[in-house]
Amino acid sequence: MSSIKSAIPRHIAIIMDGNGRWARQRGRPRASGHQAGFRTTRDIVEACGRQQIEALTLFAFSSENWKRPQQEVGLLMDLFLRALKSEVSKLCENNVKIRFIGERGAFQPKLQLEMDNAETLTRDNDGLMLAIAVNYGGRWDIVNAARQLAFQVRDGELQPEDIDIDTFSRHVSLSEISEPDLFIRTGGEKRISNYLLWHLAYTELYFTDVLWPDFSEVELANALDFYAGRQRRFGRTGEQVIGGTG
Ligand code: FPP
Repeated sequence: MSSIKSAIPRHIAIIMDGNGRWARQRGRPRASGHQAGFRTTRDIVEACGRQQIEALTLFAFSSENWKRPQQEVGLLMDLFLRALKSEVSKLCENNVKIRFIGERGAFQPKLQLEMDNAETLTRDNDGLMLAIAVNYGGRWDIVNAARQLAFQVRDGELQPEDIDIDTFSRHVSLSEISEPDLFIRTGGEKRISNYLLWHLAYTELYFTDVLWPDFSEVELANALDFYAGRQRRFGRTGEQVIGGTG
């Protein structure tokens, strides 16, 4: 768990929403919104690196996004593939470590290969950890952890009474890093949308109407200011936190 008082979040998780509306406002196709969203993603990754953020988790494609028109799904896949090919070496030079979370088996083999390559190429980097959630769902993540533990019980490696929060946490995605301190959702909706359901238990939630392509380093600074003003209590009283007791 993160420290109680910390002006800078160690781990930020973002739902990048609003690409489609950004395009529509300009009378452009949704593809142009996703392209613009990609440019914002690149800027924010760089900004987080400069701000010494330890981890950034981005929701790039949810398990529900397959329900979008086939043309848009194809377009997003092309964008991911091109983005991986064009950005990975620069990210590697910038000491970024890339991780993908979610069920990547559903993607085309060439995209899976690029994801594997990106992880392998950057695995020894110790700068910003960039986790990209693809075909990810928070409920899937929890069910997956439960299934792994059930197999261990079946095989006699684990007793049911030994399953506690710590054991469970070790089986969800991103178990090797601290849980997000700050969650940001752009685009005006105030929902978690099946994102990191297990991990967001104590995360500070920041919602902004700004559409993702318009999100900038200034907007990020606003979110960081919001975070710096929060008192993180983790179930304690405000007095306990201020007094440093309990
Ligand atoms: C949500 O906007 C955005 C997505 C489903 C795709 C996210 C993809 C990117 C930001 C581009 C590239 C990212 C990477 C990691 C390469 P929306 O389409 O739901 O917008 P709307 O709610 O206005 O329709």
